[in-house]
Amino acid sequence: MDLDAVFERNYALAAPHTLLMKAQVRSIFDRLVEVRHLPGDCIEFGGFRGGLSFFLGLCVRDLGLAKRVFMLDSFEGLPPTDSRLDGPFQGGMMVSDLASVLQQRAMLGLDAVVEVRPGWFQDSLEKMPATAQFCLAHLDADVYSSTKTALRYVLPRLAQGGALVLDDCLFFGATGVLQAAEEEIGSGLHLHLGPKTQAFAFPAGDPNPRRRAPVWRTLGGRRYDVAELLQRADYIELVASEAAYFRGLAQAYGDYLELVSGKPELPPDSHRVAPNIGILRKS
Ligand SMILES: C[S@@+](CC[C@H](N)C(=O)[O-])C[C@H]1O[C@@H](n2cnc3c(N)ncnc32)[C@H](O)[C@@H]1O
Repeated sequence: MDLDAVFERNYALAAPHTLLMKAQVRSIFDRLVEVRHLPGDCIEFGGFRGGLSFFLGLCVRDLGLAKRVFMLDSFEGLPPTDSRLDGPFQGGMMVSDLASVLQQRAMLGLDAVVEVRPGWFQDSLEKMPATAQFCLAHLDADVYSSTKTALRYVLPRLAQGGALVLDDCLFFGATGVLQAAEEEIGSGLHLHLGPKTQAFAFPAGDPNPRRRAPVWRTLGGRRYDVAELLQRADYIELVASEAAYFRGLAQAYGDYLELVSGKPELPPDSHRVAPNIGILRKS
């Protein structure tokens, strides 16, 4: 089977419905391919508009796997957060619409593969099948408390060799996901660095003995190795593109301030100068 073709076809179908970058989705696809012969289903904590869960469902179908994909989300956005751990994330961010997700699932023909479980994790997890087991878990709930709840549920149910993918581990200004992983998995946790802010681990044993040594180790309090990060082309690209974005934003702020400074009324076209600065936009 041409795995690259499976990835490309299904990524194109799911991309409009996910916040994840293509490289992040590819990394999750690679993990699915690695663990596809293990027992257990797939689960996503924080499904939002469904893109990644749909992607996994499409791949499960194309790869001929007898697996389901559980997609969990509050559909009310993030829960209340802890600003010390969760940085810029705030309660109520990222609300999605259950009806649209169910409609999209039907349009992709995934009703029998992707199980949508609405509600806060602590409630929806109580209704999961008693014998649930997982070969792949994607944790994308952004914040400390949600990641703790997800890990406490999923770790004892992960098949031997199963993959745990954690998004937002390297999120600028938020350490909650990493802290939850350290607390729940313990000092023996070996995190491999995925694209962007993603990390992945095999807490119940690695199915691939030839994998490169993990880039991250939590042992000894070392969180990540910057030198190794900077040798990676995808990180350099990411950092460069984010730097360009913020430079553009700073320029827009500068232009805007120049335009409005000293003027008691905002000039009529001032919002066009800095379209990204929602807070300054004239209504
Ligand atoms: C970053 S979004 C997920 C993005 C998604 N994986 C994608 O592919 O685009 C985070 C989601 O986690 C959900 N979430 C966070 N904590 C939750 C909790 N405790 N219970 C239920 N949903 C939660 C939010 O509602 C939000 O939709």
